[in-house]
Amino acid sequence: MPVFNHVKAALLSLLIFTPVTANTIKPGEHFKIEDPADISAEQAEKLYQTIISRMKSSYALADYPAAKYYQRWQRFNAEPYLSEGHGNRYLNNYGNRTASNYLSLQPGQQMAQGAILAKDSFTAKKDGGLLPGALFLMEKLESGGKPEYGDWRYVMVLPDGAVLGDSEGANAEAMLFCHGCHIAAQSTDYLFLLPEPK
Ligand code: HEC
Repeated sequence: MPVFNHVKAALLSLLIFTPVTANTIKPGEHFKIEDPADISAEQAEKLYQTIISRMKSSYALADYPAAKYYQRWQRFNAEPYLSEGHGNRYLNNYGNRTASNYLSLQPGQQMAQGAILAKDSFTAKKDGGLLPGALFLMEKLESGGKPEYGDWRYVMVLPDGAVLGDSEGANAEAMLFCHGCHIAAQSTDYLFLLPEPK
């Protein structure tokens, strides 16, 4: 339904430009949490387990299948880790079966078509606040499918299940900044992979 899509796109851009919540997201920059809680990896994992099912049911509202199923996939990290690139949130990394070489990917290698990586996020603040964050997805397209994006599709789902943007669908231009940053990881197929353990 083109009219519906049009309205949805307009609403989504409103979402981007209007400060609706404390977590205002503008294209080209990630909102950074200023006061991430100073907690251990074990504590972060405990917090994650308390909100994981809430995150699952919210993301599942998105019109993108991987947002519904990613929690059944392989999880590449044992405990949530703090991200600088994704706004000082705690992150978890999952991949579908086609993405199973994620952990062993070497410079010069590429992921196979159909590989999907899903990274969910949450915020743990010093005042004890615990908030689900956005879900970030990358899907490997067919070879030559989107050369300017390294043949990746970028999708971002907000914590309430709204798709903020899909580089192959609605609000595609809002996803330009994803690849603009991921291009720095060109040698490993635009993937930053997991951070080195500290
Ligand atoms: C400011 C830079 C930056 C931007 C913008 C950015 N990312 Fe990332 N992304 C990273 C970094 C750095 C990592 C590695 C983990 C971390 O520290 O955040 C990463 C990891 C990921 C991963 C896990 C796969 C991997 O190893 O790279 C996915 C999926 C992802 N980002 C999706 C997205 C999507 C979708 C967008 C746009 C909505 C986006 N990213 C925008 C920097 C960025």
